[in-house]
Amino acid sequence: MTGGGGRVDGPLVLGIETSCDETGVGIVRGDQLLADAVASSVDEHERFGGVVPEVASRAHLEAIVPTLERACSDAGVRLADVDVLAVTAGPGLAGALLVGDAAAKALAVALGKPLYGVNHLAAHVAVDQLEHGPLPEPAVALLVSGGHTSLLLVEDVTADLRPLGQTLDDAAGEAFDKVARVLGLPFPGGPHIDKQARSGNSVAIDFPRGLTNRRDLERHRFDFSFSGLKTAVARWVETQQREGVAIDVADVAASFQEAVCDVLTRKAIDAATSRGIEDILIGGGVAANSRLRAMAEERAAAQGIRVRVPRPGLCTDNGAMVAALGAELVARGRTPSRLDLPADSSQPITTVVA
Ligand code: KG4
Ligand code: ZN
Repeated sequence: MTGGGGRVDGPLVLGIETSCDETGVGIVRGDQLLADAVASSVDEHERFGGVVPEVASRAHLEAIVPTLERACSDAGVRLADVDVLAVTAGPGLAGALLVGDAAAKALAVALGKPLYGVNHLAAHVAVDQLEHGPLPEPAVALLVSGGHTSLLLVEDVTADLRPLGQTLDDAAGEAFDKVARVLGLPFPGGPHIDKQARSGNSVAIDFPRGLTNRRDLERHRFDFSFSGLKTAVARWVETQQREGVAIDVADVAASFQEAVCDVLTRKAIDAATSRGIEDILIGGGVAANSRLRAMAEERAAAQGIRVRVPRPGLCTDNGAMVAALGAELVARGRTPSRLDLPADSSQPITTVVA
């Protein structure tokens, strides 16, 4: 595997991620990625149309040891070679977080190595250094996943991330998943909408852009709202069905996706230009979306702003992002966590290390 082209020395850092439905173990040295093993329980949640916490926790328990073994084998290292451990401490599903936390603490004690309990969202920001080298700071980060949608001012990814705005209701990924369900597409819906949209007309239906009119912008300039959009899609589909009109899934997918990407990119660029910041980092599962990547690139370039988005496999949850943040914490001399660090399902972004 290739690294970010920057530091290839430094301690061997193993990162564990279990905040949602992916059991991830990543191994890095500096900003060089050595292994990124992921076991997903997504198929087990499909029939429920969303992640079931108890099912996710059990799946993590079953997957954690084999995933650790696979990561070590992929990286060509032994557990005894690991210098530093990092684990997602939050935010996420409490029971799921506990599995990774327990594993990381056990390893830290057995190996006698320091442990960092890190913020999942900060890890989504840090992961890009594995692909594109040292992070630009300050930067505006747009985090878009199944559970979160926020804009952050990143002064220092290890210590100073400030919330600028967030979703007032559904997360962007949640909106993708719910709209996919309405369209009869499998869970998780994001990748399926992305695929359908490629053959659809993005201006076929004029869906609403939440919190973009002048009055809303006064109070919610950098906030998002996707529940109105989700309802508008559902209403549109219901009306067509009632009238016996066949639904063009590709057109609905493309028009919905366009509305989401329009708002996300507009607000991210506004956040950057209003502060004179020249770099935007995009992370989280929805950052895998092909239209979001293209639109962000195009609109930012027009404003002289650079956009960095990791490859899709590093956008969705994985252990490499946790290891990447761990490596950065070590490089900047941050103090490790105590061994009784809590798994905090609602850990705020202002707490990078628990
Ligand atoms: O970051 P992530 O893997 O897990 C959370 O922390 O939530 O994000 C998962 C979300 C899901 O809602 C999924 O539908 C969405 O990311 N997603 C996408 C794409 N790939 C994954 N959404 C839009 N387009 C995609 N290509
Ligand atoms: Zn995530």
